[in-house]
Amino acid sequence: MAKDYKKLLPSLDMSRLPRHVGIIMDGNGRWAKQHSRPRLYGHREGAKSIRQVVELGVELGLKYLTFYAFSTENWNRPEDEVKGLLKLLKEKLIKEIPELNEQNIYVQFIGSEINLEAEYLAEIRAVAAKTHQNTGMVVNIAFNYGGRLEIIEAIKKLKPEDVNSLGPDNFGQYLWTKGQPDPDLIIRSSGEKRLSNFLLWQSAYSEIYITETLWPDFGKVEMIKALQDYQSRNRRYGGLG
Ligand code: IPE
Ligand code: IPE
Ligand code: MG
Repeated sequence: MAKDYKKLLPSLDMSRLPRHVGIIMDGNGRWAKQHSRPRLYGHREGAKSIRQVVELGVELGLKYLTFYAFSTENWNRPEDEVKGLLKLLKEKLIKEIPELNEQNIYVQFIGSEINLEAEYLAEIRAVAAKTHQNTGMVVNIAFNYGGRLEIIEAIKKLKPEDVNSLGPDNFGQYLWTKGQPDPDLIIRSSGEKRLSNFLLWQSAYSEIYITETLWPDFGKVEMIKALQDYQSRNRRYGGLG
């Protein structure tokens, strides 16, 4: 039942929620295959899971959520799938804007401009900008995102005088996630045990949670399970905890 997640809420320690959760939304294609539908149908179903997680995030008061929507490696897929994904992203975003604004959510894209048509880029940015007066939860959409490219682009932005003062604590200000805390928790659906180029710099001390559940089947209950698991971890940061 859709409301079943409510029963699980008291199990969470609200004072120890992660500030930032990153999600590698994987398994749409396998889900579609299991349901004998085209891959794009799986992607459309997957978009519904984003909404569930965002709603729960608002209910819990999470501060930052990052969804990995399209990687710099995903251009290697057939053209039809790539086109379908780009179209889906724009359409869903446009449709969700009123709701996002109602929930005081700030949406921003993190990713590269490479390979994207200027017009498309301008359009999705303009839609996201409609949320930029909001002061609540930040939702990052990692789109045309690659961790290695992000680091390289950051290095290219550096001025000679920046290099001298560079250190592990301030390099993050040159990344697309500038000003945001590193993800405390990274969730990956569909059982794959890899980062696939997601938030490489920022994930240095992230807790990682992997579920076998395919992304279109991921909902509030799954998200709470991930948060419970996170709360059972002992984060030592190289010390003795
Ligand atoms: C995740 O689902 C969505 C994107 C990578 C865009 P996949 O499309 O990777 O689904 P699988 O891994 O083929 O099942
Ligand atoms: C990672 O999923 C990228 C996104 C979720 C957008 P992939 O399905 O592309 O990752 P690999 O190919 O299994 O590593
Ligand atoms: Mg995949």
